[in-house]
Amino acid sequence: MRREHWSGKLAFILAASGSAIGLGNLWKFPYITYDNGGGLFILVYLTCIVLIGFPMMISEIGLGKLSERNPVGAFAKFAGAHSSYRYVGALGVISAFLILSYYSVVAGWSLEYCLKALVGEFRAIPYEVKKELLEREATQVQLRKQALKEFLGRQLTDEERQRLMLDARLISEGSYPAQEIANLFQRLNKEQLISHLEKNKRALYWENYFFAKMKEQKDYLSWENKLLLPLYSTQLFENFLGNKIRVIFWHLVFMALTFLIIIRGIKGGIERSVRVFMPLLFLLVLILMVNSLMLDKEQEAVRFMLSGEPKKLKPNSILEALGHAFFTLSLGMGAMMTYGSYMSKSSDVIRDAIWVVVMDTLIALMACLMIFPIIFVYGMSPSQGIGILFTTLPLELQKFPLGGFLTLLFYLLVFIAALTSSISLMEVPVSYLVDEWKYSRAKATSLVFFSAFLLGIPSALSVDQFLTWADRIASNLFLPLGGFFITLFIGYRVQPELLKAEFTAFHYPLWLFYFYKFSMRYLTPFLMLLVAGHLVYALFY
Ligand code: TRP
Repeated sequence: MRREHWSGKLAFILAASGSAIGLGNLWKFPYITYDNGGGLFILVYLTCIVLIGFPMMISEIGLGKLSERNPVGAFAKFAGAHSSYRYVGALGVISAFLILSYYSVVAGWSLEYCLKALVGEFRAIPYEVKKELLEREATQVQLRKQALKEFLGRQLTDEERQRLMLDARLISEGSYPAQEIANLFQRLNKEQLISHLEKNKRALYWENYFFAKMKEQKDYLSWENKLLLPLYSTQLFENFLGNKIRVIFWHLVFMALTFLIIIRGIKGGIERSVRVFMPLLFLLVLILMVNSLMLDKEQEAVRFMLSGEPKKLKPNSILEALGHAFFTLSLGMGAMMTYGSYMSKSSDVIRDAIWVVVMDTLIALMACLMIFPIIFVYGMSPSQGIGILFTTLPLELQKFPLGGFLTLLFYLLVFIAALTSSISLMEVPVSYLVDEWKYSRAKATSLVFFSAFLLGIPSALSVDQFLTWADRIASNLFLPLGGFFITLFIGYRVQPELLKAEFTAFHYPLWLFYFYKFSMRYLTPFLMLLVAGHLVYALFY
């Protein structure tokens, strides 16, 4: 059977950018950028993209285009049917399959949240929930502690000051003269004062006292909401995750949508869907970014991305940037190879690689501009794992005019970004089964759909253990290892010259080819080994 081809240049670029732009851009990149102090980290990341990501992208697309096979077949074609390099292809197929299984679980959450946004679940805390939250012991403690903090931070009345001092005199059992204690209270800051009270078991008394006063104030309600809303959204998220049937249901729905696209093939399925979804994705990112930039913290966000806190950049950050550059570009597992295998012979690999890399980077930076202002306004830290997309952001978005609508758009964006990635994940094992096992497309797609759905169930049941663990193994070990072997293959087995015609045919300058060759032979293999080695090290120590 003749291999299907993309119908034109744009189709490949859209599909490959769709694969690259995913949860990695919307969630992981802003989060690691924040953790590593912004500014300098972004610079390191961009360097990784140029030195490693871009050359690797050329290799994968090129190998696909030249072989017109799935990853296993591609290696077999160039290295011989019995070469051990086939196992590198196999590792890629396995990685794709594994990532697909848990990617679909997280993507399923976004569907649930589209629904939640639609029915307005984030708008306000329902009365019963509020009551239940308020009656909780932990909430009570938190409310009281917060009251103490707020009051000590404000100006105390003379009466309160005197009572506090009297208290302190009793605590110190008269061993200090009153004047000295007064001085002490002048000098102590809020935290020291609280710890002093706590040490002497007087904190509870003052907590209750200030809490009672707090309740008399007119802004008590908004103050209570400030404390309860995050509790509420965390509870919403945890309740949802605890509802295993629902989580698995959305996982099934998402996997089925992916299946429905893949079974229709390259032109009728993948291409048709990315032509609709990719422009929509750009539009959504643009709308949400502009919205965030209208907050008054946009300058802080931009400043953070340009300079930030360079001190937070540690040697590990560099490995993290490298690993992420790989993950976000969907490299190291043959996804780009598979998409490349449907290219026509006349297509320009270098230009397409540039497009995909630039698009992906652009969206990652825009995602930061979309998320940082919101985070900064409310003084939150984005380093709370994947949860931030599902706990912090919906509440914050809700506060804008048209908030409910924006929240819906946001989860629609997450869903679309995940879908255009998951179709490329599914296409890898499907093309393998079709090429190597001579399965019909329908049979291959059904098989992958069912088995990836089943493999995803443990991830759906246990986010903390299974999903996190699967992600770590796949993105920190399998992908860099796959990348390492792909560069060895290009650099030493078939030689970078295999791809030289891709440079010369379209008159790219020769130095670009030599840069590519250098990266494949020396730079990338070395760095990829470091990334994979670091995970193994981290696992054991
Ligand atoms: N690039 C995707 C993201 O940023 C994740 C990913 C990694 C991926 N490898 C892939 C997607 C392979 C599709 C195919 O979220």
